[in-house]
Amino acid sequence: MRNTLYKRMLCKLILFSIFLLTFTHMQAQPVTIPIETSKQALVLQTDAESRLRTVYFGKILADKNEYPSASETYHFDDNNAGIYNSVYTPAGTWNLSEPAIQVLHADGDPSLELKYDSHQTRQIDDNTSLTSIVLKDPVYPFQVTLFYKVWKKENVIEQWSEIHHTENDDVVLKKFASANLYFSNDDFYLTSYHNQWAKEMQPVETMLERGIRVLDSKLGARAMLLQSPNFILAFDQPASENEGSVILGQLAWSGNFKLEFEMDSYDNLRLIAGINPFASEYSLPPNEVFKTPSLIYAVSNNGTGEASRNLHDWARKYRVLDGQGERLTLLNNWEATYFDFNEEKLTALFKDAKNLGVDLFLLDDGWFGNKYPRNGDNAGLGDWQENVKKLPHGIGYLVKEANKAGVKFGIWIEPEMVNPKSELYERHLDWVIRQPERPEVYFRNQLVLDLSNPEVQDFVFGVVDKLFTDNPELAFIKWDCNSVIYNAYSEYLNKVGLPQSHLYIEYVHGLYKVLERLRKKYPKVPMMLCSGGGGRGDYELLKYFTEFWPSDDTEPVERIFMQWDYSYFFPAIVTDNHVTDWGKQPLKFRTDVASMGKLGFDIVASHLSEDEMKYCKEAVQNYHSFKDIVWHGDQYRLVNPHKNDIASVMYVKKDKTRAIMFNYLVNNRQRLATAETPVKLNGLDPEKKYRVKEINLYPGTRSWIDPDKEYSGDFLMKVGINPIVNLRRTSVVLEVNEVE
Ligand code: GLA
Repeated sequence: MRNTLYKRMLCKLILFSIFLLTFTHMQAQPVTIPIETSKQALVLQTDAESRLRTVYFGKILADKNEYPSASETYHFDDNNAGIYNSVYTPAGTWNLSEPAIQVLHADGDPSLELKYDSHQTRQIDDNTSLTSIVLKDPVYPFQVTLFYKVWKKENVIEQWSEIHHTENDDVVLKKFASANLYFSNDDFYLTSYHNQWAKEMQPVETMLERGIRVLDSKLGARAMLLQSPNFILAFDQPASENEGSVILGQLAWSGNFKLEFEMDSYDNLRLIAGINPFASEYSLPPNEVFKTPSLIYAVSNNGTGEASRNLHDWARKYRVLDGQGERLTLLNNWEATYFDFNEEKLTALFKDAKNLGVDLFLLDDGWFGNKYPRNGDNAGLGDWQENVKKLPHGIGYLVKEANKAGVKFGIWIEPEMVNPKSELYERHLDWVIRQPERPEVYFRNQLVLDLSNPEVQDFVFGVVDKLFTDNPELAFIKWDCNSVIYNAYSEYLNKVGLPQSHLYIEYVHGLYKVLERLRKKYPKVPMMLCSGGGGRGDYELLKYFTEFWPSDDTEPVERIFMQWDYSYFFPAIVTDNHVTDWGKQPLKFRTDVASMGKLGFDIVASHLSEDEMKYCKEAVQNYHSFKDIVWHGDQYRLVNPHKNDIASVMYVKKDKTRAIMFNYLVNNRQRLATAETPVKLNGLDPEKKYRVKEINLYPGTRSWIDPDKEYSGDFLMKVGINPIVNLRRTSVVLEVNEVE
């Protein structure tokens, strides 16, 4: 009996020791979370304090079991440096570096600690997965969930975070980043893009040094007027097209953004990206979730070319509204008439559109306002009724007349804005963003409506809804936004007792709410996003828009550079390019440049000479024959205009049977280094045979390219072909066709 009792006790003791051992072992075992695309891994791991750190960002390992060992290679040994690689760096406790999140708890305490709690990965489809990681403050009922959505094949990652608490009153969020990344490498090269009206996407590449390089906007609306939320980060060497590790990134947020690139004391790089916390403290009530915008990035170890093609595929397949669909070529009347038009002038333009061979006529600014007619940019914004003098029979009549002429009809609006000279301003001063006690400050003679106010959201929705309800055949909208926000102050937020510091954020949320409602009711109608040129254009707005207007600058040489730089981040199908009278380049040059995207015209077609008209009509016809390749094919940037006398870009059909190659002279030099040597093509099948034919020839000119000669893809990609660009042939378009 005694023996049995003794045995039982021993047994219990052993079991308890095993439990204790396993438990302590479990406690000590770090949690490792690999987030993998098909080529790249981002590996996160808990430390002894259960704080989550980034321990690896690089090529995937053949054996996943080796990821946990990555952390052993780090030897951070000073007090604060060891936490540089926190996956979401909190403020107010152990961290003394730039935080990703900073809060003031309901009781006024400014400290935050975030420890790993749990994580899960959900497979959405074969290609897409979503990992979410919960981090919790051990002292306060406050948590952050980090999200990593991964598109494996495209090597694209989307990161955002959700902040939530159950404290007994509001928590003030002072900083609330979308993502906090950490890269360990020798050198980092950052390409950022700097904008101005008619001078968008000017790249600057710098090798990052110690300190923080900040890219940001504080403009509220038209937020990208001066800087862009797009960037290229290149590892070890400056960004190059076909080699090296690069990240192409964007903060997908249409308001104030802030991207901080910090080189730490180990010469590693911290990236903190999110909404700009400037004047934006956010009071978060208990049980509500604050969702940050997304940081989206494509990763490649074979240079920017591959990263762009992947990002383009991703955007068309998963992000942009109708990204895999069709687009409408058009004739716009902005530069043809400005504000000076009537029904007669417009109906004549419908015929021009038909004659050119485009799909749609787009009526621009100036069609509305009666008490304060929109005859210039100083009046009428907000009064969205047809001007009875210019358009006595209304929009309905124009839609019908356009359809009769054989083209569709689209219209320009700028529904977020108001001129002080308008009936809307007189009626609804309370809807206008302005400081009640201070003089108004105008941008293009206008002010911004307060989209944080649900009544204003209804108004903006109503403007578009009425256009569609009155004119069901309306086929296209150009949605403009020409002003920044001065005197940021909302009467509405005051009325409902919310802090003024919510305005910048709630403005953007209000805009998204309106667009969400519109897209529920009108899911398909194509809409162009415009913002005094390229003041807007991001992957959040492109969920609702089919395309955007990159710049008012349509001077074609300038445009070659701009389109080149936009093309790192956006597929050609979303960038609208118009042939206008800007600059001194011949019509052929202008049309060829505009064909590298969605083609449109903004010229007085009836003023064209016979040859010019003949050329245009043929170019439009050609465009219709190859647009599918430009819109849905793979883009290869062949010769960089920033470094050469010529620019060369090609688009290849996915099955490699056809390609279209655009070549331009980008200066006025007589002797051209690049014209003496061939341009190597890319993306073709080395085994296939191709013929190369010049198209878009101006009447009366002949081509120097032999259309009957056959080349292997191998030859075209290794030796290349000379498009023979020179002062007499400044623009050369080549069609590459597989020999049947
Ligand atoms: C902005 C746009 C232009 C045109 C005008 C109309 O500047 O970028 O394309 O629509 O507004 O006022």
